[in-house]
Amino acid sequence: MQRTLAILKPDCLEKRIQGKVIQHILDAGFEIRGMKLLRLSRESAGRFYEIHKEKPFYNDLIDYMTSGPVIPICLEKENAVADFRKLIGATNPANAEDGTIRKLYAESIERNIVHGSDSPENAVKEISHFFTDGDFI
Ligand code: CMP
Repeated sequence: MQRTLAILKPDCLEKRIQGKVIQHILDAGFEIRGMKLLRLSRESAGRFYEIHKEKPFYNDLIDYMTSGPVIPICLEKENAVADFRKLIGATNPANAEDGTIRKLYAESIERNIVHGSDSPENAVKEISHFFTDGDFI
């Protein structure tokens, strides 16, 4: 079994489709081990996206990710990291395959509904950004 981190982003909650997206994730066979509703501070979002600090889109990314509440979810499944990336589709919804969450619901590369960890190592780090041992079911 492997774990990955999903974040339902502010555009997902603004559109009030968090229920649909969670159902899509459950239908694909993922177990929810932890889930929170919170608003990221600029400091917390900055630490989470530290890897992108030098990128031209960094400031916009932090503005956007702190613009409203988000739902971080710890998911578990065999091959969870790769399978979840496949389920959500390409970062830019214009390039996402039919049937993926981003193809169905996302409007742009920034407002792309959902985050998914890109490697097992990053999944461990990202899960610990939001959850501690006592949080898991
Ligand atoms: P995510 O995979 O959650 O983590 C980094 C985010 O940066 C990415 O989703 C995009 O939403 C956002 N982003 C904004 N602009 C770009 C860009 N030009 N290239 C890649 N990611 C971008």
